Amino acid sequence: MTVQLRQEQQTMLWTLAMHARDAASSQPVLGDRFAADLLDRVDGPSLAGTTLDGNTPLICTRAKLIDDAARAFLDRHDEAVVLHLGCGLDSRVLRLDPGPGVRWFDVDQEPVIELRRQLYDDREHVTMIAASVTDPAWWSRVPDDVPRLVLAEGLLMYLDPDGVRAVVTNALGPGGTLVADTVASWVTWIAGWQPAMRAADTGFRSSTADLAAAASSGTRLEELSLVDATATRTGGLLSTAIRLFALIPGGRDAMVLSTYRQSAGG
Ligand SMILES: C[S@@+](CC[C@H](N)C(=O)[O-])C[C@H]1O[C@@H](n2cnc3c(N)ncnc32)[C@H](O)[C@@H]1O
Repeated sequence: MTVQLRQEQQTMLWTLAMHARDAASSQPVLGDRFAADLLDRVDGPSLAGTTLDGNTPLICTRAKLIDDAARAFLDRHDEAVVLHLGCGLDSRVLRLDPGPGVRWFDVDQEPVIELRRQLYDDREHVTMIAASVTDPAWWSRVPDDVPRLVLAEGLLMYLDPDGVRAVVTNALGPGGTLVADTVASWVTWIAGWQPAMRAADTGFRSSTADLAAAASSGTRLEELSLVDATATRTGGLLSTAIRLFALIPGGRDAMVLSTYRQSAGG
């Protein structure tokens, strides 16, 4: 399947490649059994020299924690809405296999959703939306009569602070819970020098502080260091290296996973 992907749209092939690599390893962190097949069927921009294989444990730990958070939410709510924002080609809906009371929305930019439609079979209660996550128009299509879980994985850093605010405002509407990863401001800066980012002509535009500011009217239930979480899911030298990195000022909070809920009465 060929499709023209520009800038940050290409980055979802990197995460997909990392999922496939993890699944093929002897001790998978995520074990995404769909990723390799999806990747094989995409004829996208060459990944040669632009993948970030060294980030595989971090990216797959992030996906695993978000899967776990979503499973826990769905265990509590038979009737719910899940919004998978900036979904790329990620197979989360297949991994979680939600029950019939769950209405699931996969949202990403037009070319990505075009590709996704070619690769994924139609599924009852699953809707794909081709739009920017910052566009308020499509949010009105999302039911607001049941608890709502909004997942934003590897997404918010590609939005500017206004974009983050737009997402958070909609996500933390009535009954809303948001699970999103963000990076420290020094990572936002340094990412611009990363060769893969430069090759894709993209970069990070916001940080954890921007999410905190945008979500100040909500309640932060949790903020987990993805650096620490990755250290506990890896072994040997790699785990030691990650633990040492966490000791450097700013290291532990390089990437965090936050959960926010609308404040009572908010
Ligand atoms: C790093 S990829 C992550 C994909 C997926 N969440 C995963 O973990 O595999 C970033 C994704 O965010 C999407 N994205 C970036 N900005 C967006 C926007 N304004 N609206 C919708 N999607 C966006 C990109 O198209 C891409 O699919």
